[in-house]
Amino acid sequence: MSAPYRILVADSIALDGLLPLSDDPRFELVMRPGLSGDDLAAAIADADAVLVRSATKITRASLARADRLKAIGRAGVGVDTIDVDAATERGIPVLTAPAGNSISAAELTMALLLAVARKVPAADRSMKAGEWDRKSFGGFELYGKTLGLVGAGRIGGQVAKRARAFGMNVIVYDPWLDRERARELDVQLAELDDVIANSDVLSVHVPLTDATRNLIGAAQLARMKKGAVLLNVARGGVVDEMALVDALRAGHLAGAGLDVYEQEPLPKESPLRALPNVVMTPHLGASTMEAQQNVAIEIAEAVRAALLHGDRSKAVNAAALTN
Ligand SMILES: NC(=O)c1ccc[n+]([C@@H]2O[C@H](COP(=O)([O-])OP(=O)(O)OC[C@H]3O[C@@H](n4cnc5c(N)ncnc54)[C@H](O)[C@@H]3O)[C@@H](O)[C@H]2O)c1
Repeated sequence: MSAPYRILVADSIALDGLLPLSDDPRFELVMRPGLSGDDLAAAIADADAVLVRSATKITRASLARADRLKAIGRAGVGVDTIDVDAATERGIPVLTAPAGNSISAAELTMALLLAVARKVPAADRSMKAGEWDRKSFGGFELYGKTLGLVGAGRIGGQVAKRARAFGMNVIVYDPWLDRERARELDVQLAELDDVIANSDVLSVHVPLTDATRNLIGAAQLARMKKGAVLLNVARGGVVDEMALVDALRAGHLAGAGLDVYEQEPLPKESPLRALPNVVMTPHLGASTMEAQQNVAIEIAEAVRAALLHGDRSKAVNAAALTN
């Protein structure tokens, strides 16, 4: 048998999830989380594949001696911590695991929605302060309200199902969602303007691209119903943060639930932190045991298929790779 493929695990990744690689003698796992600079470049020089989450940065310099490297695997989505251009120039596919955290992100969306609707965080703070205040935390029901989704792919689709279970009407703007899938999800397709104008709760679930940056800006926020709620568990930048602060301060929106921000970590002085009607989490969408295990399995299988069969179907740079 030829020497096993050497796989550098450069971040802490759920071990159970790496079974598709660790269980097979054709692969050798080298666990070295936390490397950077020249140590990382040297470790990569000896590897056939490298696995990362988001802590370890794969820069152009870390790939300078990556002559043996055949795949970079990111356990999760988002490749802002990887120099994809440098990888592409070297013919290395950058694989991601986009599906494994969809349920977790959808559940956090519902958690934020319920937290905003019932003022759970503020009531909890008041209880911890020794109070028994039953007057300040009146809320609203989800039942019978309209949820507008901008984007209904993996996560938006899961949010739709959960919202339907709460008795919400769901309307969706997603130009790539076909009628069959809309029927399956039991949602109504609509134009963006109509979704914005008719929703009691508007939740964005699109990737951040040139087309979606500031998709929800001052003009769109102004067209939302007075007293509506905005949710962003997708990416900071899809919603114009300053415009959102203005809409919340003006009382046009009743509240917002946010997991992602234009700048992360969110600056200490961000005005969002001072708004009582905003419930915020620090990018926790994928922070569950299950999601971490799922994305580890997904990326381990993708790296395995890339090394054994040259499969690049999970590569974000597949189109740009020429060989
Ligand atoms: N908060 C977190 O921790 C967390 C975790 C996972 C994913 N995310 C983010 O959630 C978002 C959705 O992820 P996903 O896995 O559901 O992606 P996906 O690719 O499965 O779905 C995105 C959907 O958006 C639609 N879309 C694309 N451009 C659009 C546009 N201009 N207008 C309307 N619809 C558009 C697509 O047709 C697709 O159906 C992404 O931004 C992703 O980065 C966040």
